[in-house]
Amino acid sequence: MSLDKGLPTNDSQNKFDNNEQIETREAGRPARGGALSKVKRHCARFWWVHLIIFCIIFLIIALCLVYVAMPKIAQHDVNAANIEVTEFKFENPTMETILLTQRAKLNNPSLYTPTLDSFAAASYLVTNGTFGPASIIHVQMPEAHATKPYSKQEVVNQEVKIDDLDQLAAFATAVVSDEYVHTALVGKTKLHLGALPVVEVTFNDTSTYKGLNGLKGLNVTEVRINITAPAGIPNMVGNAFIPNPSVMTIEMGNVTLSLSTAEKGLVGTASISDFVIVPGDNVLPMTGTLNQSLILASMDPTTGIANLQIKGTSVINNGVHLTYYEAALGANSLPLAMNVTQVVRDSLGI
Ligand SMILES: *[C@@H]1O[C@H](CO)[C@@H](O)[C@H](O)[C@H]1NC(C)=O
Ligand SMILES: *[C@@H]1O[C@H](CO)[C@@H](O)[C@H](O)[C@H]1NC(C)=O
Ligand SMILES: *[C@@H]1O[C@H](CO)[C@@H](O)[C@H](O)[C@H]1NC(C)=O
Ligand SMILES: *[C@@H]1O[C@H](CO)[C@@H](O)[C@H](O)[C@H]1NC(C)=O
Ligand SMILES: *[C@@H]1O[C@H](CO)[C@@H](O)[C@H](O)[C@H]1NC(C)=O
Ligand SMILES: *[C@@H]1O[C@H](CO)[C@@H](O)[C@H](O)[C@H]1NC(C)=O
Ligand SMILES: *[C@@H]1O[C@H](CO)[C@@H](O)[C@H](O)[C@H]1NC(C)=O
Repeated sequence: MSLDKGLPTNDSQNKFDNNEQIETREAGRPARGGALSKVKRHCARFWWVHLIIFCIIFLIIALCLVYVAMPKIAQHDVNAANIEVTEFKFENPTMETILLTQRAKLNNPSLYTPTLDSFAAASYLVTNGTFGPASIIHVQMPEAHATKPYSKQEVVNQEVKIDDLDQLAAFATAVVSDEYVHTALVGKTKLHLGALPVVEVTFNDTSTYKGLNGLKGLNVTEVRINITAPAGIPNMVGNAFIPNPSVMTIEMGNVTLSLSTAEKGLVGTASISDFVIVPGDNVLPMTGTLNQSLILASMDPTTGIANLQIKGTSVINNGVHLTYYEAALGANSLPLAMNVTQVVRDSLGI
């Protein structure tokens, strides 16, 4: 209307009404106030056109919400969700497969409680925020109804194929050496929410959990040496005490460790049969072959302590070398202060 202001009009059919704008017009100048009533009449006659237009716009907006915004919202919510691992078991290892049990909480900060289809997730080692170049394994994630605040996610005794032995070795090394380990599960799945259309979403979630932290606190207890045993025959028995601060159960197989000292180099070997560590404190029987003269020569004569360095040299399960666990146990040597005086006393029963 205001656009018409000041413009002359010769529409003699104009019916002036009480519209304020019209009254403010200069006297003597006919205004196009009739336009409004024209609109009114038009509306009255063609109300159904407006209704249809309204419906179409409403539909377009609704469809945009459902087909454009909803997938974005769904993806956003999937990104916000995260997996908190409560239990891991790596059992029956071979060079091709591992038997995996993984119990986790799927935390759902979203307003919705959608269902995610079962999908194959690639597991990547994440080091300082950088993904490994290949996936370690693929895990078939079960269908999940993402309830609030979390839902349980369980993979039980799933035989998973090893994707990349180097990445598995890097992962196992991180598990043994690091205080915290980061891995990501990546995959595509379908999200269902009520009657809304099914949306494809990308799952890409990094979880952080505790590792074995360099086997800190490793110790040997009840060590006995058979002083009369001939060379090359196992002459030592004892228990390896291994604290496991993580939620991981790891079965390796028959593990052989080398024992060395700074003074004399290799002074012996130790083996642990059917090495399995569970969360908490582990006491594993071990046998070993120690060169007694080299141990005594490495001992500090005033304290009676020999400072051993322990390193994994072989991990054999059912006759097969597991190179990834060998890499993990061989990556770092673990210090162990052995009280030789105590061992000798215990061994002789004095
Ligand atoms: C990761 O970061 C730590 C600390 O900043 C560093 O010591 C380590 O070398 C880094 N590791 C890799 C693989 O970049
Ligand atoms: C997953 O996220 C990381 C960064 O957080 C990114 O580098 C990677 O490309 C993502 N992968 C996929 C498949 O989206
Ligand atoms: C190792 O075990 C011995 C015997 O049980 C104990 O006296 C010693 O304090 C332990 N050492 C460490 C570092 O835990
Ligand atoms: C020590 O070794 C000798 C020779 O092998 C053997 O006869 C003896 O039984 C062993 N003692 C113990 C306590 O194992
Ligand atoms: C211990 O090591 C020394 C030096 O390497 C060697 O001469 C000796 O034969 C070894 N003793 C046994 C019992 O293996
Ligand atoms: C460990 O070694 C023993 C003796 O050689 C063997 O009987 C056993 O089967 C081995 N265990 C595994 C898991 O390979
Ligand atoms: C080693 O054991 C002996 C005998 O039991 C004991 O007297 C000594 O204090 C111990 N040394 C250390 C450093 O624990």
